[in-house]
Amino acid sequence: MRVLGIETSCDETGVAIFDSKKGLLAHAIHSQATLHAEYGGVVPELASRDHIRQCLPLITQVLDEASLKGSEIDGVAYTAGPGLIGALLVGTSIARSLAWSWQVPAIAVHHMEGHLLAPMLEENAPCLPFIALLVSGGHTLLVEVHEIGRYKILGESVDDAAGEAFDKTAKLLGLGYPGGPALAQLALLGQPDRFKFPRPMTNRPGLDFSFSGLKTFAVNTLASHENNSQTRADIAYAFEDAVVDTLTIKCKRALQQTQLTRLVIAGGVSANHKLQQKLAQLMTQRGGEVYYPRQEFCTDNGAMIAYAGYLRLQAGQSQTLSMNAKARWPLEDLSPLPSSPKRCR
Ligand code: KG4
Ligand code: ZN
Repeated sequence: MRVLGIETSCDETGVAIFDSKKGLLAHAIHSQATLHAEYGGVVPELASRDHIRQCLPLITQVLDEASLKGSEIDGVAYTAGPGLIGALLVGTSIARSLAWSWQVPAIAVHHMEGHLLAPMLEENAPCLPFIALLVSGGHTLLVEVHEIGRYKILGESVDDAAGEAFDKTAKLLGLGYPGGPALAQLALLGQPDRFKFPRPMTNRPGLDFSFSGLKTFAVNTLASHENNSQTRADIAYAFEDAVVDTLTIKCKRALQQTQLTRLVIAGGVSANHKLQQKLAQLMTQRGGEVYYPRQEFCTDNGAMIAYAGYLRLQAGQSQTLSMNAKARWPLEDLSPLPSSPKRCR
């Protein structure tokens, strides 16, 4: 089965073709980062319009790369939510129209399920069950996964998502959008011992997160010191250290609580090297293993949507012709798949 995947939930147009026998055949991503940079964040209407411009040419490109005709596609998967509604509607309507014209089924994919499954595209794919830490611009979720589609939320952010906190703090430090990678880069120049930021919600039980206070801590630290390049680098270091440490503490708790030995990290912030290193250390100490996608599939992409859609289509799921994009869509509302991929223990 060959599935075309389309991702347009935010500021990346991602398109890919997944083949059940050969794996990923082709993928392409167009980032809108430069388009939104001058506004310091995503402008929803500009995002929708750019998806309209980019989506069909990218689909033609991946079909060419895979040497396929549209008629050789067996199903179309698209991100139906959560995300920016206008942006989602572009992908949804293009996906449904192509599926209708090719006479194949279409399947709505949950963006965060796409992220969660992205590490399964790698050679060293995780088997079930596992804990997933999903850290993106819009979500911070700790999820217990025994079956694909049945997700138990163990913890989530009560305010800003981890990526959002990176973006806001980066803006404060005068860095461009998206802020996460730029802040991580600046943190490399920071002195480890100058500032110590709090580890929010770690001194009480529970697996929820709160990141908005760290941004305020950064504002206050900057205001009370000379604003020069070293101070900004030191704040970047202390901020990144605090976010990474907090995420690590909560992952450790989730693993202790569930007695699971595999940890998956995905979503834009999973591209962060310090987070990857810290979680690798944690899992070495615990005798378990950490899994994450290749760098380009940590952030939004079409490959994860093609793969998630493939799993649901091969299980016989598909939707009616009505289009239903959802800006909000709880991960726990998804239906479990009757047959899940590889399970160990
Ligand atoms: O998953 P994603 O591409 O889009 C959403 O679904 O939101 O995540 C984007 C987020 C942004 O907030 C971005 O700043 C953050 O991921 N991000 C990073 C890094 N790369 C991307 N945060 C920290 N370190 C990074 N290396
Ligand atoms: Zn995402």
